[in-house]
Amino acid sequence: MRTRMERPKHKTTMLPLGLFLFFALFVVNVRAQSLPPPKIDGFVYENIRVNSDTIIIEAFYDPVCPDSRDSWPPLKQALSYYGSRAWLVVHLFPLPYHDNAFVASRALHIVNKLNASATFPLLEHFFKYQKQFYNAQTRNFSRAFIVDKIAKFATEVVGNSYYGTIKSEFNDTKTDLKTRVSFKFGASRGVYGTPFFFVNGFLLPDGGSTIDFNGWKKIIDPLIGVHGGKSLDSLHFFL
Ligand SMILES: *[C@@H]1O[C@H](CO)[C@@H](O)[C@H](O)[C@H]1NC(C)=O
Ligand SMILES: *[C@@H]1O[C@H](CO)[C@@H](O)[C@H](O)[C@H]1NC(C)=O
Ligand SMILES: *[C@@H]1O[C@H](CO)[C@@H](O)[C@H](O)[C@H]1NC(C)=O
Repeated sequence: MRTRMERPKHKTTMLPLGLFLFFALFVVNVRAQSLPPPKIDGFVYENIRVNSDTIIIEAFYDPVCPDSRDSWPPLKQALSYYGSRAWLVVHLFPLPYHDNAFVASRALHIVNKLNASATFPLLEHFFKYQKQFYNAQTRNFSRAFIVDKIAKFATEVVGNSYYGTIKSEFNDTKTDLKTRVSFKFGASRGVYGTPFFFVNGFLLPDGGSTIDFNGWKKIIDPLIGVHGGKSLDSLHFFL
């Protein structure tokens, strides 16, 4: 009984403190970065002219997530199949339970700034060799060691001469803020795993799982009026 009666006492002191911290952090946060950001988040895959008939695909990827990795080749195949009819933007969504996801995502923002055409090659490089950045493989590594390892990893795509620049970009809070904006963008859209795909603004079901090439055909064909036997059935999937 006594302990029970004491509990509310603790709660009343804890709550204002919690609220205070919440507002203090909120104020600091608002000062540190203003939202919306000056530029919309995301890496556009190919410079395709978008018109009202273009199928807009948004992919939320974590560079060190195996499901993101597995979903990329079939999506790439679908994009090549649909050519100018489909447009892709990739948003990074570093998952909090992947220890190196934020640093890897930050490396992508850095490289995108240094040489935008190297962004997707680096994303593919992460997908191909991501295992070395998994939690189990890196549990004894310091933060500084990981940043250095990932900076070196990025130079495998952009060239060794960029090593110093990449390292100093990791010291620049602007690249940290960009990566935070990516996370916040995903969170504001209700993303809670990767890969998550939106088509023409709507979330596809089964978030977090891979869609194979036929899966993409089933989704996109009915939208662009390709007549297959079951196009109406496929549409119901969105409704
Ligand atoms: C930018 O990256 C692309 C693709 O990796 C590469 O072909 C090109 O040479 C790079 N440009 C510079 C200036 O490093
Ligand atoms: C991490 O360090 C511990 C203790 O030195 C060692 O037993 C373990 O094998 C190391 N793990 C990895 C993944 O290197
Ligand atoms: C990054 O900042 C740390 C601490 O301020 C400093 O020791 C280091 O030399 C800096 N690195 C680069 C590449 O600017």
